[in-house]
Amino acid sequence: MSGPLDSVAWPVRTERLVLRPATPGDVEATYRIRVLPEVSRWITAAPGDPASYAASFAEPDRLARTLVVELGSDGGPVIGDLMLWVGDAWAQVEVAEAARACQAELGWVLDPAYAGRGFATEAVRALLGTCFDALGLRRVVAECFADNTASWRLMERVGMRREAHTVRESLHRDLGWLDGFSYALLAEEWAARER
Ligand SMILES: CC(C)(COP(=O)(O)OP(=O)(O)OC[C@H]1O[C@@H](n2cnc3c(N)ncnc32)[C@H](O)[C@@H]1OP(=O)(O)O)[C@@H](O)C(=O)NCCC(=O)NCCS
Repeated sequence: MSGPLDSVAWPVRTERLVLRPATPGDVEATYRIRVLPEVSRWITAAPGDPASYAASFAEPDRLARTLVVELGSDGGPVIGDLMLWVGDAWAQVEVAEAARACQAELGWVLDPAYAGRGFATEAVRALLGTCFDALGLRRVVAECFADNTASWRLMERVGMRREAHTVRESLHRDLGWLDGFSYALLAEEWAARER
């Protein structure tokens, strides 16, 4: 399977974590986290039963945009996963070619047992570095329900800007129509950040 992630020198290491492309062997570790109510409450698709999750996790398109986060520097436990979905920017037809595969949407899940210690911040900063410094993307976006405070606070910790507050446009499986937030970061903003 080839995709944008192939051009990155994996694994990406941070002070406390390793980020690497997911493999079908990560299905159990990611299921264990995603099935927790405090996690599944906010993610796009609840994992369902283990067999259907395993089938969907192993789909090439999904694997091609999924990274796992390992604790420590050498094969530690999987404590979360990240989405890195490279796509086109909106463009007028005549210039659409110049807008191909120039931006990414990010997503994240952290095992609640490891919450509150900055692991998600550390992983997402490394992911932004991968997007801008390794992949040369021009813009990164992320979205969440406005009620998902932990997620938008993470976006702000890593320097993303709130670009939109949508009003009751996103349907939550239990909570009904909710507000949403969109955040973004441009390559030049990433380059100008305080290190
Ligand atoms: C969104 C999510 C990844 C955020 O996790 P998190 O634990 O809040 O984020 P971090 O790991 O970066 O930890 C940040 C917290 O640790 C604290 N912290 C401790 N050491 C830190 C450090 N070195 N660096 C940064 N923060 C640190 C921060 O102050 C912050 O605490 P606070 O929330 O009380 O202010 C997590 O809540 C999650 O997986 N939720 C369910 C899935 C989900 O919602 N996904 C997104 C769908 S849009």
